[in-house]
Amino acid sequence: MAWMAGLFRHPTLFVTGGKGSRFIDADGISLIDFNLADLSNTVGYGDNPVAQAVARQAARGAQFLLPTEDALVVAEALADRTSMPFWQFTISASTANMEAIRIARTITGRQKIVLFDGKYHGHIDPTMAEGGAPGSSIAAVPEAMGLSPHEAANAVNIPFNDLTALEAALAEGDVALVLVEPALSNCSLVLPKPEFLQALCRMTRATGALAALDETHTWAMEYGGFTRMLALKPDFITLGKGLGSGIPLGAYGMTPEIAEFVQRHRDVDIAPTRGLAIGGTTFANALAMAAARAMLTEVATIDAYQRIATLGQRMADGIDAMIAARGLPWRAFRHGPRSGFCLTPELPLTYAEAKPSVNPELSDARRVFMANRGIWDAIATAGPQVSFAHSTDDVDLYLQVAASFLDNLER
Ligand SMILES: Cc1ncc(COP(=O)(O)O)c(C=O)c1O
Repeated sequence: MAWMAGLFRHPTLFVTGGKGSRFIDADGISLIDFNLADLSNTVGYGDNPVAQAVARQAARGAQFLLPTEDALVVAEALADRTSMPFWQFTISASTANMEAIRIARTITGRQKIVLFDGKYHGHIDPTMAEGGAPGSSIAAVPEAMGLSPHEAANAVNIPFNDLTALEAALAEGDVALVLVEPALSNCSLVLPKPEFLQALCRMTRATGALAALDETHTWAMEYGGFTRMLALKPDFITLGKGLGSGIPLGAYGMTPEIAEFVQRHRDVDIAPTRGLAIGGTTFANALAMAAARAMLTEVATIDAYQRIATLGQRMADGIDAMIAARGLPWRAFRHGPRSGFCLTPELPLTYAEAKPSVNPELSDARRVFMANRGIWDAIATAGPQVSFAHSTDDVDLYLQVAASFLDNLER
């Protein structure tokens, strides 16, 4: 992948397998993974309930292009955790976001999508756009090569946690969807101010737009995501990554009103009217649904989330302690199992404030230093995060190696 090739300014590792919180590289070296494949494998490696469910399903058939009963159990479990009653499955979080955008545009008859600086919602044209602030005469432009400038021009990017900017973005009444990560998680960690997400849902609805919470990463931080923690009432929730534990799977939840619209606009091939352009051959395949069912019912239980939150606190306390002991003007990021190094004295509230903590040189140095000592900190601004497979000893080893890294930094 182009973005991964650019991510590591050193040769990649090749992997042969793993067990629990560790994977083993092609040289036979074992590394404890604190990035969890960018949160796409929170169950851990090797034998576990998800691996067993997938193996059982593979022996029966991986894909039928018909639903399996697991899809019903997964939809019910997701509804139970979020109060979002209807769910549709895709192959990835990117495709879940893409379909939520298409449905929102169809329902509202509008094209504009409001996004937040520092966001990431997948490699899709409508969201890989930068600029286009409300009131600006210059439209948003593609963030990378190969993206449609026409699509990018429909994006409006505003600062996270800024309700005044949101009000301005919604003022023209031309927004189809406000798409937001409940906490920015790809540019270090930016938590929402109290009431920010509640107000976002309220203001969006009041202006005839729809709101989607992209819980792809935050799902791994809270049981039922931030939706449940804050009792939020969005129009869509999008998920992916760890839900399938490495088996490609995305999902989006929707309100009864939206589900009814989707039901009424199936893509029956009767010219001249076609239905909604949603779906894919391998969406909701049997393997992915077996993985998600095992994940939700056997691994990612409320008790398991509590356990990893305790480990995450140990991690964040340890990072704060090592920073204080060295007199650095930094602090730990912390939310449940997620921690990290905030390279400013105050926690950020916007991407602009988070940017100093996104330091590629420091990240590269830390990744290589830690990898040579048995710790994999792949995307150093997106972790460390504790998975369901980690132990207290794993966390303590991370802290020991990270402290030694700080001791080796030249001031
Ligand atoms: C918040 C968020 N949404 C969506 C995605 C896209 O996920 P995928 O690449 O698995 O489709 C990512 C990936 O990092 C993400 O962090």
